[in-house]
Amino acid sequence: MLNFNKNFTEELERLDFANRPPFGLYEPIDYVLEGEGKRLRPNLLILSYLAAGGSEERLDAILPAAYALEFFHNFTLLHDDLMDHSDMRRGRPCVHVRWNEQTAILSGDQLLIEAYKQLESLPKELVPDALILFNTMATKVCEGQQMDMDFEHTHPTLHDYVDMIEGKTGALISCACVMGAYLAQPESILSDDYQAFGQFGYCLGTAFQIMDDYLDCFGTEETLGKPIGGDIREHKKTWLYLMAEKLLQEGKILEFPDAYDILDSEDYDAVCRLYRTLGVDKAALEVVKGYTDQALHALDTLPAAVAAGVTPVSVDAAEQGAAATAELRAMAQNLINRNK
Ligand code: IPE
Ligand code: IPE
Ligand code: MG
Ligand code: MG
Ligand code: MG
Repeated sequence: MLNFNKNFTEELERLDFANRPPFGLYEPIDYVLEGEGKRLRPNLLILSYLAAGGSEERLDAILPAAYALEFFHNFTLLHDDLMDHSDMRRGRPCVHVRWNEQTAILSGDQLLIEAYKQLESLPKELVPDALILFNTMATKVCEGQQMDMDFEHTHPTLHDYVDMIEGKTGALISCACVMGAYLAQPESILSDDYQAFGQFGYCLGTAFQIMDDYLDCFGTEETLGKPIGGDIREHKKTWLYLMAEKLLQEGKILEFPDAYDILDSEDYDAVCRLYRTLGVDKAALEVVKGYTDQALHALDTLPAAVAAGVTPVSVDAAEQGAAATAELRAMAQNLINRNK
C-alpha cells in the first residue's frame, strides 16, 4: 500500500515552497508542512478511497485531494496557534513566534490557496463535487473555531461542546473519509453507503478531539510537541472542564468549597488535581473509547459490496478494499492509545 509520507515529501520538493520568492510568504509554509505531523487526514482519505473500491492505479490522480486536506489542516493550525496564544507546535516554535503574527496570517492564507490549487489538479470531472465537499467542510471548521472562541466566555453544555468539536475537528476528519469514498465511486456520492464513511469520520473526530483535550492536560510536552496546560490557561471549555463542572453541579465532592474557583483558575496543578479527584481523567478515556466504538460500528454498516469495492474489477480489488477497511479499523483503534 502507498507510503503517503514519501509521496508528501516528494510533493513538497516539487512545489519547492522554500525557494519561492517572496521568501517571507513561502518559507513559513515550507516550515510548517515539513513539521512532524501525524498526517491523519490524508491517510484517512487514501484508505477510504481504497476501502470504497478505488483502484491503486488511479491513486496518483486522486492524491491532490490528500495534499489539499493536509494543506488545509496546516493552514488551520497556523491561525489556531495565533487564536490560542500557543507558542510551540510539533516540537518547534509556531510560525507567529519564529516569524511574526502578520506572517502567520498571510502564510496561512496562502496555504489555504495552495489547498485549492491541489483540488484544481484533480481529474476535471471530479473537481465540482470535490469543491462542494471541501467548502462545506471548511465552513463547518470556521464555525466550530468561532464556537470554541465564544465558549471561553460563555457557559456551554457538554452537548454544545460536541457540536463545537464536530465543526472544528470532526468536519475535516469526516470530509477525508467521504472525499476518499467519493473519489473511488463518484457516481454514487449521494448514496446511503457513503453516510457510513461520514459517520465513521465524525465519531472518530469526536474521539480524536476529546483525546486532544485529555493530552493537553495529562500528556507530556516531549511526546506531544506542544506544551501542556494551554487549554487551562486559555479558559477553554474542554470536555474535561465541562464534565468536571457537571459533576460539581451534581453535588460531587461538596467538601471542596473552592472547587468552582479552582476549575475557573489558570492554576494547572490545582485543576489537574481536581480533575483526578473527580475521576474526569478516566471518564475522558472511557468516552474516547465509546466514540471510537461508534466509529468502528459505522464501518460495520458498510454494505459488503462497498467494503470490498462497489464494482470490484477483480478479486484483487475486492481483497484490497477489505484490507483497507481493516486498516481504517486499526488506525481508529490506535488513536485511542496515542500519546501525541
Ligand atoms: C491538531 O491535529 C489539531 C486538532 C484537531 C486537535 P493533529 O493532532 O492531527 O496535528 P498533527 O498534524 O499531527 O500535528
Ligand atoms: C484545533 O483544536 C482545531 C483546529 C485547528 C481547527 P485545538 O486548538 O484543541 O488544537 P491544538 O491543541 O492547538 O492542536
Ligand atoms: Mg483551538
Ligand atoms: Mg490550539
Ligand atoms: Mg487542543
